[in-house]
Amino acid sequence: MNPKQAFWLPFTANRAFWKAPRVIKAAKGHYYTTDDGRELLDGFSGLWTSGLGHCHPRIVAAVQEQVATLDYSMGFQVANDKAIALAERLSGIAPEGFTRVFFTNSGSEAVDTALKIALACHRAQGEGQRTRFIGRERGYHGVNFGGTSVGGIPANRKAYGASLVPGVDHIRHTHSLADMAFSHGQPAWGVHLADDLERVIALHDASNIAALIVEPVAGSAGVLVPPVGYLQRLREICDRHGILLIFDEVITSFGRVGAAFAAQRFGVLPDLITCAKGMTNGVVPMGAVLVREGLYQALMHGPLEQVEFFHGYTYSGHPLAAAAGLAALEVYRDEHSFATAHALEPAFEEALHSLKHEPYVVDIRNIGLMGAIELAPRTGHPGARAFEVFLKCFEAGVVIRNTGDVLAFAPFFDTTTDELERIFATVRRALEEVA
Ligand SMILES: Cc1ncc(COP(=O)(O)O)c(C=O)c1O
Repeated sequence: MNPKQAFWLPFTANRAFWKAPRVIKAAKGHYYTTDDGRELLDGFSGLWTSGLGHCHPRIVAAVQEQVATLDYSMGFQVANDKAIALAERLSGIAPEGFTRVFFTNSGSEAVDTALKIALACHRAQGEGQRTRFIGRERGYHGVNFGGTSVGGIPANRKAYGASLVPGVDHIRHTHSLADMAFSHGQPAWGVHLADDLERVIALHDASNIAALIVEPVAGSAGVLVPPVGYLQRLREICDRHGILLIFDEVITSFGRVGAAFAAQRFGVLPDLITCAKGMTNGVVPMGAVLVREGLYQALMHGPLEQVEFFHGYTYSGHPLAAAAGLAALEVYRDEHSFATAHALEPAFEEALHSLKHEPYVVDIRNIGLMGAIELAPRTGHPGARAFEVFLKCFEAGVVIRNTGDVLAFAPFFDTTTDELERIFATVRRALEEVA
């Protein structure tokens, strides 16, 4: 074995990768530099993470200062000043009523934490039998056991079979090529798909169900945009049955859909919100669960010295991550980044949809600065065509993402129209070559 290949890459075909490794060694603004000195235009903002661009000077400076001031302090029974400040700021930009913040180190941990909070709150309110979770087909909620279980992407689940968390069911996903292909923004068709929740509730009985978890816009399964009225209807059904609603906003928060949170853009309030990625602009790993005051209070009982929620990570609220988060939030505020992202949406939409007539394109969809081009799969080789397009774009100096047979796009909030043109001209050429 070649010791230079000890690194086992996540969500990657490792054997193929090492035949022709793609290695990044630097980044600045909208560009990466590879180990062989090539410049690549990043059309995916890192991995949905870095809407402000790479190595934003204010975030870099904040992290540099923090690491020399307080590198780490114990996170249990002791707090650090930056985590306290970041929680206050987050709650300040969150939808009304999200007053409490639990820090994690990733989106996956935020999801599993949110699921545990839901269970604990029901139990504290005398409904400990509410233990079931409902997810959605094609949902992605990270890779820990809870998130994998409520997730609905078959490839992410099949290797773990019966080992997943029991008591989980899924509602149907919201995508239909026949009814909504080439929608711009939210599809007009499909609000009735929310009623599938009633079917699942009837099967298990509401009294056994703790929470429904959905991404407001499903990201990893290829940007599935909620039909008009769909999220509102999910909220109504959850309310009717005392089921908590968790919005997994790991991708959709911090400007990706032109607002701090998708809950605000869509005007639907969940009970818990998970976030990560853009919280630090991707600079230091960090996630969080935002919690409504009533749920938090449900756990605040018993003797004062009693730990109310037996859960936490060594690095919950890590000072370096919190400093990066504080700096990112300041930049979002000072540079009006969410408005900037919102203003780019029409140009992005137009550039994306201009590929409608390219070979194999069967659907294009978008909301905010999330976009997807779905390709017809190659017979017998699902995903191969999109992967080839990804490779060709990479060779041509543009980074996009492939997921299944979908090409996904996530420009920076201030991506220029020239850069958009370059990204989609490169994709167009790649599609023609693959044809
Ligand atoms: C909606 C959603 N939830 C959870 C996660 C998991 O986050 P992480 O990879 O930081 O664990 C992701 C990652 O893409 C995500 O998109």
